[in-house]
Amino acid sequence: MKILLLGRNGQVGWELQRALAPLGEVVALDRHGDGESCGDLSRPDALADTVRRLAPAAIVNAAAYTAVDKAESEPELAWRINAEAVAALAGEAARSGALLLHYSTDYVFDGSGERPWREEDATGPLSVYGHSKLAGEKAIRDSGCRHLILRTSWVYAARGGNFARTMLRLAAERERLSVIADQAGAPTGAELIADVSAHALRATLAGSGRDGTYHLAAAGETSWHAYACFVLDEARRLGATLKATEVVPIPTSAYPTPAARPLNSRLDTTRLRTTFGLHLPDWHAGVARMLREVLT
Ligand SMILES: NC(=O)c1ccc[n+]([C@@H]2O[C@H](COP(=O)([O-])OP(=O)(O)OC[C@H]3O[C@@H](n4cnc5c(N)ncnc54)[C@H](OP(=O)(O)O)[C@@H]3O)[C@@H](O)[C@H]2O)c1
Repeated sequence: MKILLLGRNGQVGWELQRALAPLGEVVALDRHGDGESCGDLSRPDALADTVRRLAPAAIVNAAAYTAVDKAESEPELAWRINAEAVAALAGEAARSGALLLHYSTDYVFDGSGERPWREEDATGPLSVYGHSKLAGEKAIRDSGCRHLILRTSWVYAARGGNFARTMLRLAAERERLSVIADQAGAPTGAELIADVSAHALRATLAGSGRDGTYHLAAAGETSWHAYACFVLDEARRLGATLKATEVVPIPTSAYPTPAARPLNSRLDTTRLRTTFGLHLPDWHAGVARMLREVLT
């Protein structure tokens, strides 16, 4: 089986190179392609040509425009990558019968309430990024292609840019950090996302009835503030020297950003766990493991 993986150098894409390897021949591309093949999502037509030529049984799209604040000033590019290119992939998947596995986000929701979001809940993005990701989802569903859309949240990895690594850097430089305490969600490791993706892809290809949209996040919940405190406590336990002595909880309103963020990013993962018979571990375990990888 041939699997086309796009976005191979992102947090999730990097782990997918490992997790997909036992399933078949993985053709993994980044935005620069490989000379013959286009992996650049800002060129939807060239991307579609590549899919047609490679004729994969599955397309896994880990590439995305993920610069949430920058998207507010670059909406066309965010839209091209997160919506138009995804529509092109979905069109090719529908034409060829390939399965498209794609990632989306808690940012498709408006963040109201405190109940974890279910897949069928009404969406209401607050940002250009959220709107563009929702448009990508819709294009996939409208195309009629076989698909898995996995909405995830608060992604971290040992490699790449993410909140946990930013906190480690800032805590080494500053004595006092201010961190938002009124947004709730679950930090979710790229390793977990990639491993769950491989299981879900295999099960979906093996039988019918599992296509659709699923929420994928580690178990438990926290705030950015409590997450930062956990990261710094663990880092100290592992021997890191940090300057920060104070981590001050602040409300979202005290930290204005170009893009608004949902206050409630909790995702209900019941559908994913029951459909695929999977267990999602508590978020602390994955973050602690990532820190050991980074710091020891
Ligand atoms: N990060 C999060 O907290 C989060 C939360 C919820 C959902 N998600 C979703 O999860 C998925 C994976 O996210 P991630 O955290 O792994 O993101 P990431 O680390 O930012 O990786 C995204 C990848 O997309 C690539 N990319 C950007 N523009 C491209 C283009 N024009 N053509 C080809 N590739 C391009 C980037 O390439 P370069 O390295 O060359 O820039 C990068 O490798 C995305 O769909 C994202 O929307 C992420």
